[in-house]
Amino acid sequence: MKRRIPFPAAPLLALSLLLLLAAMWAGLLRMGWAWPLLRPTLPMAHGPLMVSGFLGALISLERAVALQPSVRGQARRLVYLPPLAAGLGGLLVMLGIAPPLGPLLMTMGSLGLVILMVVIYRLHPAMHSGVILLGSILWLAGNLLWLFGQPVFEVTAWWTGFLALTIIGERLELSRLLNLSSLAHRLFLFLVVLVCAALIVSLIRYQPGMRLLGLTMLGMSIWLFVFDIARRRIRAGGQARFIAITLLLGYAWLAISGVLYVVFAGQMAGPRYDAMQHSFYLGFVFNMIFAHAPIVFPAILQRPLSYHPGFYLPPILLSLSLVLRITGDLTGDMVMRQWGGLLNAITLLLFLGLIIGTVLKDGRRQSARPSP
Ligand code: HEM
Repeated sequence: MKRRIPFPAAPLLALSLLLLLAAMWAGLLRMGWAWPLLRPTLPMAHGPLMVSGFLGALISLERAVALQPSVRGQARRLVYLPPLAAGLGGLLVMLGIAPPLGPLLMTMGSLGLVILMVVIYRLHPAMHSGVILLGSILWLAGNLLWLFGQPVFEVTAWWTGFLALTIIGERLELSRLLNLSSLAHRLFLFLVVLVCAALIVSLIRYQPGMRLLGLTMLGMSIWLFVFDIARRRIRAGGQARFIAITLLLGYAWLAISGVLYVVFAGQMAGPRYDAMQHSFYLGFVFNMIFAHAPIVFPAILQRPLSYHPGFYLPPILLSLSLVLRITGDLTGDMVMRQWGGLLNAITLLLFLGLIIGTVLKDGRRQSARPSP
């Protein structure tokens, strides 16, 4: 029997992936690849499209799908408004039309995610859902700063806080089986408070704020190495081992990003800034996406996604190409930086191809199976 593609999750997922493609094109234009501009405003829309468009829509969609079974009536449809607003806002920003409307819609999307997280917190009051809720508030705060004309480099710090708290909150949730000690919980809370303190300081004095954010990232990577379940799952086989190795790789990139933030705290643009930002966004955030893909995509699409060893390719290629890019950034070799950036983008395309190909293959296999 043919399985229906879930509506509206699948079109919203497609919209967020379209924003990823546009954001990658914009990033490559920013790196100096002399390709068609498509829209004059596209290169400067790169950061907002990546974080508030693609990731904002994807994260809100994941929450909406998780929350839907717990709500009744009209609310079952309303849960999809946050990813819809973030996605449509991203579309307007991508096309460069109706200027204040795109950022406004993305801000509404982040407000919607805060509301979804409040509902989730009330259903499951726990430290991890509180931290993820706080992460969504940082996204909303960042979007408001952006809407009111704050420079993007300052806003970026808040977006970084959003993703950092969302991810470590999820890791805390998945490590709850370990019965973490009260010391581990206290250290965790201390790091969460430090993230918020660093962001507030960055508004008053940018450089010390960024330095504190970098130290906090280093602290988080150590916490994750020590307390997260990943290290204990490395000896498991198959998918569990793939997830553990990819998570640990991501934690290593978080540590590298922390060091770069501490050393280059005052940077607001240029190659060193590029190294700070992308060791976090590509090295940490994308390795988390690769690691969680076998769980997240089947949940959104309500289709199976069978693991195979080819899943190792994206994390390995991403790390190699990121080393190339950051070496170019730090040595002033612009050709190396450009090729590193291009290979980063090719790796993300390879990952998308791998996921889409596996979902289609699994679907065909299922429909070929005789019904009982
Ligand atoms: C796929 C390959 C990517 C390329 C080629 C790329 C390229 C760039 C470039 C050239 C810059 C400007 C740096 C400078 O000031 O010199 C930049 C900034 C930035 N990127 Fe990326 N990037 C990529 C991936 C990502 C990802 C995955 C994210 C987030 C998830 C991201 C988020 C940002 C942000 C927030 C900024 C700073 C804000 C801005 O200046 O627009 N980038 N990127």
